[in-house]
Amino acid sequence: MASNPSDESKLRSGRWFDPDSLRGFGHRSRLKGMGYDDQDYRGKPVVAILNTWSDLNTCHSHFPERVQEVKRGIWQMGGFPVEIPVMSLGEMMMKPTTMLYRNLLAMETEEALRCHPIDAAVLMGGCDKTVPAMIMGAISADLPAIFLPAGPMLKARWKDQTLGSGSDAWKYWDERRAGNLCDEAWGEIENCIARSAGTCMTMGTASTMAAIAESMGLTLPGASSVPAVISEHSRLAVATGRRAVQLAQEKLCPSDLLTPESFDNAIVTSMAIGGSTNAIVHIIAMARRAGFDLTLERFDELSRTTPVLANIRPAGKFLMEDFFDAGGLTALLKQLGEHIQGSCQTVNGSTLAENIARAEVIDPDIIRSTGDPISPTGGTFVLRGNLAPSGCIIKPTAASPRLLEHTGSAVVFDTYAELKAKLNDPDTGITPDSVLILRNAGPQGGPGFPEWGMLPIPDHLLKQGIRDLVRISDARMSGTSYGTCVLHVAPEAAVGGPLALVRNGDMIQLSIKERRLDLLVDDQELAQRRKSWSAPKPKYERGYGAMFLKHVTQADAGCDFDFLHHGEETPDPEIY
Ligand code: FES
Repeated sequence: MASNPSDESKLRSGRWFDPDSLRGFGHRSRLKGMGYDDQDYRGKPVVAILNTWSDLNTCHSHFPERVQEVKRGIWQMGGFPVEIPVMSLGEMMMKPTTMLYRNLLAMETEEALRCHPIDAAVLMGGCDKTVPAMIMGAISADLPAIFLPAGPMLKARWKDQTLGSGSDAWKYWDERRAGNLCDEAWGEIENCIARSAGTCMTMGTASTMAAIAESMGLTLPGASSVPAVISEHSRLAVATGRRAVQLAQEKLCPSDLLTPESFDNAIVTSMAIGGSTNAIVHIIAMARRAGFDLTLERFDELSRTTPVLANIRPAGKFLMEDFFDAGGLTALLKQLGEHIQGSCQTVNGSTLAENIARAEVIDPDIIRSTGDPISPTGGTFVLRGNLAPSGCIIKPTAASPRLLEHTGSAVVFDTYAELKAKLNDPDTGITPDSVLILRNAGPQGGPGFPEWGMLPIPDHLLKQGIRDLVRISDARMSGTSYGTCVLHVAPEAAVGGPLALVRNGDMIQLSIKERRLDLLVDDQELAQRRKSWSAPKPKYERGYGAMFLKHVTQADAGCDFDFLHHGEETPDPEIY
């Protein structure tokens, strides 16, 4: 968005506040009605703080305090702070899934920036989808913007165990279903597993996306690893506010920073941290907003050469607080050496290489070197085959090695409700070699692409000590989940992808070595089955849900709305 087509040296907000006109009078008089003098804002950069706080976003409960700290930084540098609340996507409470609303927050971010007298913005997000959503919106608005990550929670302790939110909740829930955990112990875990404000403290989607934002140059250096409730996080908030004022003066926009190399850095970072599988969908969506036609092929290429260096759950052993103490993301990026393109510009005015030059690894078990990685190749693999012609993904570092080359017979569930109803029914016949399939759980089918991809293990197998099966779906899974879960199968079943044609007892072959997923049924038989297939009835006939179903793209295209991809510039509003 051009700041001011007639005079690039002027502030954009001046279009609202400078003119000696009825409108200018109205804008100024209403600020005065709020108690501000000319000295507070005239001629000063107006910095919006887009705040995704809500009482039902458990991960952002420290944002009311942080907002004041961001404002302090903005005042310090001679800016005028304005807080603008935007939709809060709290992962734990929102149903059916926050992914249904990622694009809505992206639209709100873009339009809130465009329609107000704003010269720069601080984007306050953290819980999973808030990160890509705000960045997608800021890329499309193309006003100077800097991201402030919420930061992870402190790590939790239960008896002598260190607990990670998400991952350990799944783990102990399985133990409870297996009969190994009493009510009292389960209650104790509930009391302690979420220890503070902040995002999930594993390398889940929130920490992954924060790291990606930093690797793309959209945060201050080191910002993505700082725990939510320590004093460094407060100082980070103040510093972010200060920098936002300078961004307004420098008119440094996302389009000045983001290049194809920035997105390569995002991909390499997500692989090297063993990050959430969700990152793939979000990176593609952000890249396409920036005008780069990123495809799964690039993820496949970079995953083959990028080592996993972060020893963080669910792919590793430690938690985000340990990662911060071990040196944080800047240290990890430095360890990556030539895998990272250091010449990319970042929001603090320096290159990525300059930002990480002095970073140090404090604990080499937590942040590994390329010579001693957790895994020699990337954390997320892209698979293809006749069951996923447009691709699917798996996180092998979170899977069981014994299942990475596996052929088994399919047990198919058409809906999550059916899965819940039948999973423990002995007649379903699930064995340790079965391949569980959940379909109609993709962007259209879910709808909204829910995190159902870590299908539960049946109770009778848990009691036998089985903790993993090959599971395939067109859904996503939480970044804190684990297991041999093949996800994001595209095209999804609800639009007629081959997953829709699988029947109970069909043999399915997964080969991580070959990076393939195949349905071992001949083409003639599949053609016959296709003749009898019909699309499920759309769940939403009205409202936002209907718009979502009409315009959402498939997983391999980022699940953005088709009309929000990069294209013609949207004009700045006229002020009559
Ligand atoms: Fe918010 Fe995990 S629930 S980051």
